[in-house]
Amino acid sequence: MCGIVGYIGDKRASEVIIKGLKRLEYRGYDSAGIAYHNGTLEIKKGKGKVAKLEQMLEGGNSAKLGIGHTRWATHGEPNDINSHPHTSSSGKLALVHNGIIENYASLKKMLEGNGCEFYSETDTEVVAKLIESLLEKDPKDLKKAVQLALAQIDGTYGLAIIHTDFPEQIVVARKGSPLLIGVGNGEMLIASDASAVAEYTDQVVYLDDGEVAVIKKDEYQVHTLDDDSLIKEVHELALSLEEIEKGGYPFFMLKEIFEQPKAISDCLRGRLNAKEGTITLGGISRVMEQLTDAKRLIIAACGTSWHSGIVGEYLFESLLKIPVEVEYASELRYKESLIGEGDVMIVVSQSGETADTLAALRRARKNGALVIGVVNVVGSSIARETDAGVYIHAGPEIGVASTKAFTAQVTVLTLMAIQLAQYKGTISDEKARKLISELDSIPKKMQQVLDKSSELDQVSDLFSYAPNFLYLGRSFGFPVALEGALKLKEISYIHAEGYPAAEMKHGPIALIDEMMPVVVIAGTRHTNDKMVSNIEEVKARKGRIISIVTEGNEEVENLSEFSFSVPEVADELSPLLTVIPLQILSYNIAVNRGCNVDQPRNLAKSVTVE
Ligand code: F6R
Repeated sequence: MCGIVGYIGDKRASEVIIKGLKRLEYRGYDSAGIAYHNGTLEIKKGKGKVAKLEQMLEGGNSAKLGIGHTRWATHGEPNDINSHPHTSSSGKLALVHNGIIENYASLKKMLEGNGCEFYSETDTEVVAKLIESLLEKDPKDLKKAVQLALAQIDGTYGLAIIHTDFPEQIVVARKGSPLLIGVGNGEMLIASDASAVAEYTDQVVYLDDGEVAVIKKDEYQVHTLDDDSLIKEVHELALSLEEIEKGGYPFFMLKEIFEQPKAISDCLRGRLNAKEGTITLGGISRVMEQLTDAKRLIIAACGTSWHSGIVGEYLFESLLKIPVEVEYASELRYKESLIGEGDVMIVVSQSGETADTLAALRRARKNGALVIGVVNVVGSSIARETDAGVYIHAGPEIGVASTKAFTAQVTVLTLMAIQLAQYKGTISDEKARKLISELDSIPKKMQQVLDKSSELDQVSDLFSYAPNFLYLGRSFGFPVALEGALKLKEISYIHAEGYPAAEMKHGPIALIDEMMPVVVIAGTRHTNDKMVSNIEEVKARKGRIISIVTEGNEEVENLSEFSFSVPEVADELSPLLTVIPLQILSYNIAVNRGCNVDQPRNLAKSVTVE
């Protein structure tokens, strides 16, 4: 949420920053801005996309140091004044901020009492004014003024600060919002996300909460808020430029949908041995005993990752025979805390930075639970703070609507459930071998689904202007129904609801008429008869049935106005295939409606505020 980039070196800073902001634009895109200086501070900023900011910079400048921001508004509507960077009263200091300053109102009142004037409605502007007021007491030390200011601040921040009296440094600080230093040769970058620095260096230092760093062209120094000096590990980035570019696709989302066979192959590689019927997840080998002895498993996540969590619940309960609760991380963090020793929490997150998921995991660990991460972004906060974990290896996901991360998360949860069940002896050898062998064939079957995706064109065109959609599924089809509905609403702005098919009778059935497209996910054999009855109930009310079935399910096909089939697969693995046509349906409809698929309104990838 919000992207931050900064540069200090010999290149033209604004060029490096604009490139970085373009790569980070998926994190927030309601306004953008940049500050740089060459003696005097220059600010360009405004409502709109980074491309508009780039136009403002035409004519050039030679500054070799600067900071930039792409915003997802929290306090204050997206307009030119509220855009970052924000400046101090003297106009010498500029800063960009990601996060929320919770006590900004009282700080603002105090600063106003001292004669400060404020221009924006943001919580961020107080930080600029506060740092300057503290700098006046010791004008030689910008870092110290930042540390003193942060000691007075409640809330979360990723901050980057420049000041014309300190022409050779950028000061950065982190609490609750990701920030890293890209260590180059004679140049340094800072960013909220590694994709902004990958073009320049593969050496990165991740800042942790409570750290402040002074970045110069040839060195960086990291300190605590109390000014203790720290030695930080330098990590090597495994991120290729190809992975973070569209590669000929009109949108990242479409590229990522079509990358799923590769993403799942990468996720399975070295972990699944179909010949031997074994699974090895190195990341949890140390904690197998604790995991299989757990009293219960709690899966905490948000959004699409929460939907993967429900697939996980069904898998763990049926294969491992341990009770599972799937919780919205945002609810869990404020509930009566009954999680403790003997419990295992699995946190699922693509970005590894979702604020609520991070808070839920911290609380569980504090209470003595073992916390396992299922994360995509290597080195992210969640990946670093869990006790153990398994990366999903889906590669960078840039489209705001999550696609390949969902299928890779489900793949990892399936691998975990089978491996743990084998370890605990709650799965027969025959069943384990069957699931492992079917899992091995998933990338090929995904490719078969993608190869016939044009079969969805007609139904996408027919229903592009429907005002509402209903998605129904049972068993493993239920989380897929939730996910299909979420994909449609977030990128096409059509109202959509996902429901367990039988639950429809308890309310939503009232919505069904001849205008209502009802997408049924009929990919699980053991609930097919019941699904057929639910479809009949919809048809009796003239609902329009669009079904996703496994090949050969003529019964459901015959009841449907439109049907799309996926290859046969074990019920447990069906979400990996049935979700793909729903992703494509949403994509097609959004494109037909002229929506910006990769940057849907009001959304941002990676929700790093509460
Ligand atoms: C939906 C989507 C969001 C995320 C949610 C959690 O397409 O992308 O619902 O799934 O914000 O994000 P992560 O997985 O990064 O924790």
